[in-house]
Amino acid sequence: MIEFKQVTKEYGQEDALKHLSLTIGDGELFVLVGPSGSGKTTLLKMINRLVVPTSGQVLIDQEDVAQVDLEDLRRHTGYVLQTGALFPNMTVEQNAGIQLEALGWPAEKRHARIAELLKRMDLDPALFLKRMPSELSGGEAQRVGIVRALAAKPKLVLMDEPFSALDPLSKRQLQALILQLHQELATTFVFVTHDMREAIHLADRLAVIHDGELQQLGTPAEILAAPANDFVRDFFDDVQQTQFLQRVLAAGFGQKVPTTEMQNLPAFKNSDTIYQWAQLLQKQPQQNIQVAGCLLTPLDLVNYMASLNQGGEQGA
Ligand SMILES: Nc1ncnc2c1ncn2[C@@H]1O[C@H](COP(=O)(O)OP(=O)(O)OP(=O)(O)O)[C@@H](O)[C@H]1O
Ligand SMILES: [Mg+2]
Repeated sequence: MIEFKQVTKEYGQEDALKHLSLTIGDGELFVLVGPSGSGKTTLLKMINRLVVPTSGQVLIDQEDVAQVDLEDLRRHTGYVLQTGALFPNMTVEQNAGIQLEALGWPAEKRHARIAELLKRMDLDPALFLKRMPSELSGGEAQRVGIVRALAAKPKLVLMDEPFSALDPLSKRQLQALILQLHQELATTFVFVTHDMREAIHLADRLAVIHDGELQQLGTPAEILAAPANDFVRDFFDDVQQTQFLQRVLAAGFGQKVPTTEMQNLPAFKNSDTIYQWAQLLQKQPQQNIQVAGCLLTPLDLVNYMASLNQGGEQGA
C-alpha cells in the first residue's frame, strides 16, 4: 500500500503539489492523469524518492520512504519511462538485465527470465536478445523497457507516460499487454498519462490531478458518471462525447429552419452523444434530425468529424 499524506512540493515560489493525499492499494492498476505540468511526474517520483516532498509524507507499507534504504527501494521497484531509456552501448539482454544483475541473479537465470519476458512481449528472443537499442523501433524499445522493469518480479512498477511517443496501433497493443500482465502478476502498477482515453481504458482507479491538486479519485465509471467539478467534466468530455450535438452546432453546422418544417424529424437533445445519432443513421442513413431548433443532416455530421480530424483533435 502506498500512502501520500498531505504532500507538498515547492520549486522556488511555485507549488508543484499542494497538500495532496491519496492511497494506492496493493495490486491496483492505478492511473495518475492530468494535463501537462499538473504534477504527475513529481508525484510518481516521490514513490522511489527521486523527488523528496517539501512537506508531508509518502509511506509504502506503513514505512516512510524517507527512512527506507534507497538502493533496496529502487532495486525492488520497476520504472518505465516515456522513451525506453535504454543504454545505447548495451544489448537488449544487458539492458533488460540491469536490475537482475544488481540483485545478484546468475547469468543463466537472468538469460532465461529475460527471454521469457521478451516472448511475452511478442519479441522473439533469438532476434532481439543481442540487438542494440539503435536497432529497435520506438515500440520495441518500450517493450524492452517494460521487460527491464518487470524482470526482477517487483512488487511495484512505476510507469511515466510510457506510450505517449508511440503510434496509435503500437499504443493499443502495449495497453493490451499491460492489462494482461497486470492481471497475471500480483503487482501494483502506478501509471502516469495525460491521455484520458488511456486512463479510462487501463485504470482500476484513477486520480485526476490539476495544478498540483487532487480533483477526483475513483473508478473510471464513477468519474464518468459523476465528475466532481467543471475541470474533471471538461477533461473527460472528449471521452464521453456528451454535449456532442451541442458541439456540432457550436462549430457552425446545422441550419435554423421554421419549426413547421421540422415537425416530423426525430428530436435530439444538445447533450445527446454521437452514438445515439449513429444508431439512428445505421437504420436510416439519410435521416435529418432536429436539435435546439436547428436542422442537422448526416452530411453535417461527416463535415464536423472531418473538421476534427484536420485539427488532429480526434486522435486514436
Ligand atoms: N526540478 C524542477 N524545478 C523546478 N520546477 C519543476 C521541476 N520539476 C517540475 N517542476 C514544475 O513542477 C510542475 C509539475 O511538474 P511535473 O513534471 O510533475 O508535471 P507533469 O504533470 O508530469 O507534466 P507532463 O505531463 O508535462 O510530464 C511544473 O510546473 C514544472 O514546471
Ligand atoms: Mg511528467
